[in-house]
Amino acid sequence: MDFKKELLLHRNIIRARVRELAVQISRDYSDREPIVLGVLNGVVFFFADLVREMTIPSRIDFIRATSYGSSTSSSGTVRLTKELEISIKNEPVILVEDIVDTGLTITEIVKNLREREPESIRICALIDKQERRKIEVVIDYYGFRVEEGFLIGYGLDCNEQYRYLPDIYIMR
Ligand code: IMP
Repeated sequence: MDFKKELLLHRNIIRARVRELAVQISRDYSDREPIVLGVLNGVVFFFADLVREMTIPSRIDFIRATSYGSSTSSSGTVRLTKELEISIKNEPVILVEDIVDTGLTITEIVKNLREREPESIRICALIDKQERRKIEVVIDYYGFRVEEGFLIGYGLDCNEQYRYLPDIYIMR
């Protein structure tokens, strides 16, 4: 593919911010053992770095959600294509996403998870594209607010490519 990419977040900046989030979460859940739930695939590197920086015990699990629509925008119809392996009933859940953009995907996922009666659900997103929101979402922990552009790297893809890049770039 022919495109230019512009560095937005260097790996050192990401690492420092992930550490801050982990400190904050560990403080907020100091007497708990949350289930940290990642939304595959984009979350993989963020998730792994975050959980390892946390200083409290946790359990981890993953779901996968597919939204119908084009590759660079979400249509808001979400289907879980990978289910949870552990029960979240009466458990504190931290749902970890790569990007909250329009907010449609995370809203649908939360709706689905609430049916399983967790004690609580908090949302942690690496990137908050707040300006593009179509539906209000409370993000309890966010790494970076980004106003515009399509991002790749550190797990973020364009048609399943570029996830392996260690830094985050804007596609031009
Ligand atoms: P939403 O439903 O519009 O909030 O879309 C959220 C999902 O769209 C994210 O979990 C990503 O998978 C994808 N997405 C949104 N923006 C980007 C981006 O800039 N790069 C890569 N994926 C993105």
